[in-house]
Amino acid sequence: MSKPKVLLTRRWPASVEQKLQQLYDATLNLDDHPFSPDEMKQALQHYDAVCPTVCDSLPAEVLNVPNKRCKILGNFGVGYNHIDIAAAKQQGLIVSNTPGVLTESTADIAMTLLLMSARRGAEGDRLVRAGQWSGWCPTHMMSSDVTGATLGLIGFGRIAQAMARKAHHGFGMKILYVKPNPADPAIVTACHAERCDSIETLLPRCDYVSLHCPGGADTRHLINADNLKLMKDTAHLLNTARGDVVDSQALIEALQDKRIAGAGLDVYENEPQINPGFLTLDNVTLLPHLGSATIATRTAMGEKVLNNLAAFFSGEALPDRVI
Ligand code: DGY
Repeated sequence: MSKPKVLLTRRWPASVEQKLQQLYDATLNLDDHPFSPDEMKQALQHYDAVCPTVCDSLPAEVLNVPNKRCKILGNFGVGYNHIDIAAAKQQGLIVSNTPGVLTESTADIAMTLLLMSARRGAEGDRLVRAGQWSGWCPTHMMSSDVTGATLGLIGFGRIAQAMARKAHHGFGMKILYVKPNPADPAIVTACHAERCDSIETLLPRCDYVSLHCPGGADTRHLINADNLKLMKDTAHLLNTARGDVVDSQALIEALQDKRIAGAGLDVYENEPQINPGFLTLDNVTLLPHLGSATIATRTAMGEKVLNNLAAFFSGEALPDRVI
């Protein structure tokens, strides 16, 4: 019997690409270019399984292509807001993702952004590289304390909980969170976390606010001009969730007017395009969507996709089925 035809839309760590090639009639994207909508449509017509990533857009217009061969989208990533899930469901596609394995590395990047924003790390690095450092002095580049400060988490799923543990046990931070349903009592007790009943009641109490909700229509511009005004002018906003959770223009204006002290971003509206307003600001730290970018995590993400494909092609229940 011939092997199923599987396509990876981007390069993966070599070890998982090799495993995939042993198991399937696999096609790799050797030059790692982002797929156009037409290429994605052709992929859906020619492969049994297509494995997209967060950088691939799969709207209804692409998913509804006629004469599809594809039965499963094995997404390389936990977030799937780049896939129109309603359209995929309507087309009878199965979608899987990679939860769990990127929790710690993404929480580490959120902590990195928190520390960089608080202590003006990127700004200091730019200053030294530009040859503009004239030496230590008592008032140079003063910044904000992290240890003992209050961290507000918007969303309290796996990644937010990992951040809560790091921030509370590593830096003695007070943890506040908002979440539609009460959280697991074990993590609440372990981190002495306090639930707030709304974003509006959480924001004014925080020195740092970190976003951990899913992307998509329900959370688009959850952080906007109105609720940015509720933050302390000494506070910092951190986003490792999805770019469109924050109204970029409103954030740029808040940072320009020093209505908040700083922001640290790993994700952007319309990434990889960056709103040029961010680029001239010293009080924003900009990372290129590095949340899960460790060798071990990206390898584990690939392994998860392989497990989901294996289950699908052997008719078993998928470990990480979205629909
Ligand atoms: C995800 O998995 O959704 C991240 O944003 C990319 O690793």
